[in-house]
Amino acid sequence: MKYQAVIFDLDGVICHTDKYHYLAWKQMADDLDIYFDEEINNRLRGVSRMESLEIILEGSSRTFSDAEKEKLAAEKNERYVNLLGEMSAADLSSEVWETLEQLRGKGLKLAIGSSSRNAKLILERLGLKDYFEAVSDGTNIAKSKPNPEVFLKAAEFLHIEPDKCLVVEDARAGIEAAKNGGFDSAGMGEASASKDVTYAISSFGDLLKIV
Ligand code: BG6
Ligand code: MG
Repeated sequence: MKYQAVIFDLDGVICHTDKYHYLAWKQMADDLDIYFDEEINNRLRGVSRMESLEIILEGSSRTFSDAEKEKLAAEKNERYVNLLGEMSAADLSSEVWETLEQLRGKGLKLAIGSSSRNAKLILERLGLKDYFEAVSDGTNIAKSKPNPEVFLKAAEFLHIEPDKCLVVEDARAGIEAAKNGGFDSAGMGEASASKDVTYAISSFGDLLKIV
């Protein structure tokens, strides 16, 4: 077998939290009279919370102190976490669930490599809390994608070399991160058009054809 492990991005790959991020940021942008739409939201894919905030604040003519930024990010996260309360195991698609099961059945180790500091909470909501061998997320990294740190940590937690792991991503920054870390990648959605992607896939189940 070509790979010993698969490292999954979480938001946009295993589940669809984009809509909740959008609603939580939109509220902040409206309060501050900043233009914000789905297209700007797409630029936040794979980007850390504070970097996402910076991108949205580009739409404002005023400057914000570090303390104000911290407060805005904390308020956004509170709204986002409240919205995550609506998520449950029913939000995990049968295609994702069956594919994960089959990958596991082939003896592959499965891990998460996500920029989110809410990854463990989301996994719990989806009923996947103890499902993955390793979870590397926004709480154990200092540098965001396209830096490969989050995936290198996941590989380290698994004790498997990067060239034996396949990274699955929906963000271009994530595909770049995989390449920078020496990982092959499978790109879904917008990431499938990245020049750095190893395999472009049109649905999650296509992973079974790759491994
Ligand atoms: C990534 C999302 O997975 O996590 C980004 O794609 C998000 O949109 C980032 O900004 C950080 O998430 P959180 O949950 O720590 O605010
Ligand atoms: Mg993603």
